[in-house]
Amino acid sequence: MRTPLVAGNWKMNKTVAEARELIMVLGGDLKSITEVEKVVCPPSMSLVAVANLLGGTGIGLGAQNMHWEEKGAFTGEISPGMVREFCQYVILGHSERRQYFGETDQSVNKKVLAAQAAGLVPIVCVGETLAQYEAGETAAVVHRQVLAGLQGVDAAFAPKLVVAYEPVWAIGTGKASSGENAESVHRDVIRPALAELFGAQTAEAIRILYGGSVTGVNAAEFFAQPNVDGALVGGASLKPEFIEIARAAAR
Ligand code: 13P
Repeated sequence: MRTPLVAGNWKMNKTVAEARELIMVLGGDLKSITEVEKVVCPPSMSLVAVANLLGGTGIGLGAQNMHWEEKGAFTGEISPGMVREFCQYVILGHSERRQYFGETDQSVNKKVLAAQAAGLVPIVCVGETLAQYEAGETAAVVHRQVLAGLQGVDAAFAPKLVVAYEPVWAIGTGKASSGENAESVHRDVIRPALAELFGAQTAEAIRILYGGSVTGVNAAEFFAQPNVDGALVGGASLKPEFIEIARAAAR
């Protein structure tokens, strides 16, 4: 009942010309995979160019971040309205934003509420660091991030939310979580936290993605888990491998 969602987070990769080329490589095959919601999230610099290539492909477009204010003196930022002009999705609270750019549960929450107001689907990232994982703090950290990040979201909007569980120790390391570990965090921590916020029935409708070293080889193991509703893919989304991952989600 939850449509699988596979999103590619291109991070700070690809010029506009390279972004166009990558869409040419991926677009046709992705278009043919109809059972899965597919999204690409290029750097903001390339959003307009990519938007112009996605018409009629059924591939969604997302930004990797945005500010919560609609306009003003915020040098270097882009606003929800600017994102909404070209995109349907926005990644919020990625661990790299938290780690390198000072994002907190509070700033993530402001952005989530701004996405709701703008009619954007937020892909809200949560996940523990290696130190927190080793200290056995995964459940406490992820529970806190979900509750604080999604506080104040309307129950009517909540089913549109997407949560991405990305353990920081699995991002870009080639050391993916096991399918079983992802399932246990999704089932025992994230979905119950969503139920606390929005009620059990709404929580069942919200998609929870796994992210962190997802590949064409290991994707099927994640998608076989009942509470893994798709993937947020970094490195492998820059290659034709992303098509294989989307195909695995369709099975
Ligand atoms: P990798 O797939 O490169 O590990 O990155 C995951 C990620 O951070 C997606 O947002």
